[in-house]
Amino acid sequence: MKAAWYERFGPAAEVLEIGAMSPPAPGPGEVLVRVYASGINPSDVKLRAGARPGAVMAYPRIVPHSDGAGVVEAVGEGVRREIGERVWVWNAGWQRALGTAAEYVCLPTEQAVRLPDGTSFAEGACLGIPAMTAWYALYADGPIDGQTVLVTGGAGTVGRYACQMAKLGGARVITTVSSEAKARHSTCEEWINYRETDVAEAVMEMTGGAGVDRIVEVDFGANQAASLEIIKTSGVIASYASAAEMVPPLQFYGFMFKDVTLRMLIAYHLVGARHKCGEAALTDWLDAGALRHAVVPGGGLDDIAAAHETVEAGAKLGTVVLEID
Ligand SMILES: NC(=O)c1ccc[n+]([C@@H]2O[C@H](COP(=O)([O-])OP(=O)(O)OC[C@H]3O[C@@H](n4cnc5c(N)ncnc54)[C@H](OP(=O)(O)O)[C@@H]3O)[C@@H](O)[C@H]2O)c1
Repeated sequence: MKAAWYERFGPAAEVLEIGAMSPPAPGPGEVLVRVYASGINPSDVKLRAGARPGAVMAYPRIVPHSDGAGVVEAVGEGVRREIGERVWVWNAGWQRALGTAAEYVCLPTEQAVRLPDGTSFAEGACLGIPAMTAWYALYADGPIDGQTVLVTGGAGTVGRYACQMAKLGGARVITTVSSEAKARHSTCEEWINYRETDVAEAVMEMTGGAGVDRIVEVDFGANQAASLEIIKTSGVIASYASAAEMVPPLQFYGFMFKDVTLRMLIAYHLVGARHKCGEAALTDWLDAGALRHAVVPGGGLDDIAAAHETVEAGAKLGTVVLEID
């Protein structure tokens, strides 16, 4: 099969190689998926760059990318799945050597979820990390119907899904963005330009002084002071990144006296029954055509290095997806 891989950490153009590999064979409990779309997330790019703290090559050769979509081509012992079923896959690159940047990937059957006919393979390749992180950040503590939710960075891949899913769950949604164009992209009607406006002041004004019940946070450290001001007593701050300040000083007593739950989450650990719960919600929304996706075409496998650089540059609006035909 055709695949892309790296055998050492480094810049995309230097370490990513494209070539032929033997296709994997499904073991007991696994499915073999013919991959048609491979989604690239910031974590895939950071992993390849060796940017993770204490990074070591866990395998001699790594086929990158956790997310993807395709069809079930074969099944291993004990698996009853329809051959040809359209699926989206998750955690293909988490603590594994062989991800989705290849024509085939083998995964435990539960990591290949039915992809509704109305959702393209490219859109399916946005679900594993961006959509499921948004769902986890919003719904990890139960329903949000009637709550007010602040989604910081609503034009981001996770943030945009969070804006949509919060509204679908019956919440009032406010988002922060850096331009009017990004506000439109976020799909959220109530927005604040966080670079030009005092976010805490604006949120308190918009909520009549009440604040918000939940914050879906793209940069915990950068926004900590504002979050403390606007979170309601016993509210939840669900943070999935803190890039500007990776080790921010924590305002412990501020949060403690407001009885705030700080939920630091990572999509890779959303597994088992909780993942199934998110999949069910996602499948309902996809079947109903209720979600808008943002696919940034990244070319084919031969274009993988440039696609990684696009993710690194950070200016894209959506998930960079490779089409593998
Ligand atoms: N923990 C997890 O499971 C998990 C899952 C997915 C992603 N992540 C991490 O989350 C980060 C974002 O990922 P992504 O795929 O959503 O990236 P993305 O598509 O590039 O979006 C990031 C968004 O965050 C906004 N932003 C940056 N700093 C902000 C701030 N201080 N306040 C408000 N908005 C801010 C950016 O807006 P402007 O460009 O307009 O400033 C941009 O729209 C990455 O570090 C990624 O590794 C973690």
